[in-house]
Formats: sequence, C-alpha cells, structure tokens
Amino acid sequence: EFKENTIIVVFGASGDLAKKKTFPALFGLFREGYLSPSVKVYGYARSKMTDEEFRDRIKPYFETPTEKSLELVDKFLALCSYEQAAYDEPEGYQVLTKSIEAFEAERGVTEPHRLFYLALPPAVFTTVAEKVKQYCHPGSRGLARLVVEKPFGRDLKTAKELQAKLAPLWSENELYRIDHYLGKEMVKNLIPLRFANSFLHACWNNHYITSVQISLKEPFGTEGRGGYFDNIGIIRDVIQNHLLQVLTLLTMERPISGDAEAIRDEKVHLLKAIKPLDKKNILVGQYSRSEDGKKPGYLDDETVKPGSKCITYAAIPLEICNERWEGVPIILRAGKALNEGKVEIRIQFKETKNGIYQNVSRNELVIRVQPNEAMYMKMNIKIPGVSTDVTVTDLDLTYSSRYKKFYIPQAYESLIRDVLNGDHSRFVRDDELEVSWALFTPLLNYLEGPQGPDPILYPYGARGPEPLSGFLEKNGYVYDARG
Ligand code: BG6
Repeated sequence: EFKENTIIVVFGASGDLAKKKTFPALFGLFREGYLSPSVKVYGYARSKMTDEEFRDRIKPYFETPTEKSLELVDKFLALCSYEQAAYDEPEGYQVLTKSIEAFEAERGVTEPHRLFYLALPPAVFTTVAEKVKQYCHPGSRGLARLVVEKPFGRDLKTAKELQAKLAPLWSENELYRIDHYLGKEMVKNLIPLRFANSFLHACWNNHYITSVQISLKEPFGTEGRGGYFDNIGIIRDVIQNHLLQVLTLLTMERPISGDAEAIRDEKVHLLKAIKPLDKKNILVGQYSRSEDGKKPGYLDDETVKPGSKCITYAAIPLEICNERWEGVPIILRAGKALNEGKVEIRIQFKETKNGIYQNVSRNELVIRVQPNEAMYMKMNIKIPGVSTDVTVTDLDLTYSSRYKKFYIPQAYESLIRDVLNGDHSRFVRDDELEVSWALFTPLLNYLEGPQGPDPILYPYGARGPEPLSGFLEKNGYVYDARG
C-alpha cells in the first residue's frame, strides 16, 4: 500500500483541471488527515513558473472551512514544488527522477511508492505515459500508479488505439481511469443502498419498477470552452461516461463479493445487456440565446465552428435485455444551459392497480446526487388529522439535515484516496470502457454523419428542447403532478 513518503507527480500542473480539482483534492485529503505530511508533491508542466508562483496559483482554490485549516495551507504548500519542462524530451523526466530519488534516499525509502497523475489534454497523453514509464517508474523495487483522465478516446476505434498504446507500458493494475462521478457520495452509495436493504432488493425489477431516469442538468453553457466542446458534444462529455457509470451501478446484478474486480465484472455484464441504441428515438438539442437576450447562444461563441450542429442536450432511451429489466424504459438525459443545475436518479414504481387505493400516485425513489445530497421516496399516506383521504409525501433523507457532523469529501478527494489505497472499485476497467464505446459509437456516427438530424434549438435557461415532455411520456416516464 501507499503510505509514508509517497511521491505524487501531477502532470499538466499549470492547467485548469490541476488547479481546480487535483490540487484542491490533494489539499482536502491533507486537511482531513488522509494524506501523510511525509508525502512529496510535484507539479510538472511546460509553463514557466517558480515554485512560489506555482503555489500562489493553486492556493486560491483550496477549501478552508475552519481557522485550523487555514494554517494547514502553508504546511501543504511546503510539500509541493514545481518543475517546468517539455513533455516530449527526456530531460525533464530525468531531472524529476533525480529529485525524487534524492528525496527517497534522504528518507531512507527502500520501496518507492510513486503516483503519477496525468491532468493532460489527449494530444500529449500517450507521450507522457510512455516517458513516465521509461524514466520515472521505480521498476520492481517499488510501486507506481498512473491516474488518467477522460477523454479515453472519442469512439470505439480511438479508445482501442489508446489502450493498445498504454497496455504494453502500464498494467491494468497500475492504471486508474477516473470518472469523477464514481467518487460522488450518492453514487458511492448505490451499492450499499441496493445490496444492504432487503426490502429494496425485493422490488428492484420489472415487476415493480416502471421507469428509470438519470439526468444531469447544468445551468451554464460552454462559455470559454466552446472550441473544445465542439469536437466532443454532450454524449461524449457526460453521457457515455458519467451517466452510464451511474446506470451500471444502479442496475447491475449483485457482485459475488465487494472486490473491485467482482464489481467491475457485473458492470461489464450489465453494459453488454443493453440493447443497441435506437437512433431514431432520441432527442437532441442545442441552446440558443436566452429569451431575454442576456445569455449567449452556443453558436455565439467565437471559438465554435459557424453553423455547428454540435449537441448540447440529449435524451436517450435505452433498454436492458435481461430478466430483471426487460421492458423497463430507461432514459439518460443531460444538457447544458438549462433552467437549473441538478443531477438525479428517478425510479418510478408501478401503480397499485387493485384493491382499495387504485388512483393514487406512483411511488418514486429519487436519489439526488447534487446539489444537496438526498434520497427521498414519494409515499402515499393518510392526510394527517381527521381526513381519511390519501396524500403524497416524501420519506426524506436529506444529508445536510441528517448528517450534520459528517464531512462529505469532494469526488476527486474520494478517488485520489482510493488510488492511494490501491482500490480500483471506483475506476473504469479497460473492458468496461470498450463496451461503453461500443454502445455509443454507432449513435455518434449517425449523429455526426450526413444523415444526422439538426439539433432542436432551446433557449438558454429552458428545461430542455420543447418536445421534451412528450418525448419522455412516449418513452414511458409519466410525470405525476400530484407528486
Ligand atoms: C465533466 C464535463 O466531465 O463533468 C463537464 O467535461 C461537466 O462539461 C462536468 O460540466 C460535470 O461535473 P460536475 O461534478 O460539476 O457535475
């Protein structure tokens, strides 16, 4: 296991991801006592910066909720240094390794533990993975782990190519592919929720569940990243990865154990059971200027190709062909520039058809991933008091009111902690990645090919493209106004 005197190197240290996510997560772990003060952290990137400038750059993003945590900032920064070097030349890596070895020698380390975090754009990704292996890996003397960030290719072919380059260098056991949704508290909660509650287990199937929806709504557009997003689109950005990951945990069979491989085996099984997506039955959109004219449309971004058909919204119905889920409509939907920022899972249960309460609301279990983590079940109860009529209410587990004393880590904190502990459960395995691309690639080819539909425009701040309600209904989701 990684413990004392671990080396952490963040490549791409001057970039946005490192500044906003990786370093704040490392600080968060340090602040909460999950990162030993004996570690050494290197930032590595091409930009010219002194150690001091580098520390000043990352510091504003640290969360310091208490007086005491403020004092920890400088202590953590003292563990960090910066190295400016090229990605494609050996020198930088050699200098880095010299410095790492000097540190390890000084601490009397005999089995080096080194964690390399690639917060890098795809263009330099494989170069760095190769060079790190060649110049910085401790070999059989110690342990190395390589953390990589999406995009893992842009379709099945490119994902396989990337994997073919990585596999000879880094074993699957050394690789940690991050999907940060797997580090979110309520997503981590899905396995215990499903397999530690027998009452849920009994009704978690097509006899009782009538529809499943997983949605990711963001209240902002692609401002500032339009050029990048234009080659990606909403499916690659958040659906093929984040939403599909959530879906697998929500619907997979019970793993034979709690081990990472057992869990990932079940996720792969589930992915393989998803029917090919129906190209003709999806809803795609792109946001236009807001109704009051204050917020820009997607195409107003100068970095976006004029006339781009890139989709910023998609609702994708799918079906799982196994005994548990056959016939249950499942919808994944995600969009930018919508009316609210919210990620939630909705599981609707069948109506009670017989007996004395035939016209009451459906039960619905809602798992709110963000903001404000919660789980609530829409239940029918007698109106409190003299009335004997039935009303809908929520059996409500809102984390902020139930767990005042608990610290809920940021997704990246939770995942880096897993890497330090060598736990692969919440990372994407190679075969899992392949099946997920196999599922989405035909749809992406269609959407981006000559037959691809024009996205339906929706104004910035809308609930989605206008036909949304009808589309959801047609695909089995009944919105019950009484709830
Ligand atoms: C990223 C996407 O993977 O996830 C972004 O590239 C998106 O476009 C983000 O905004 C959403 O993550 P979160 O944690 O803010 O919900």
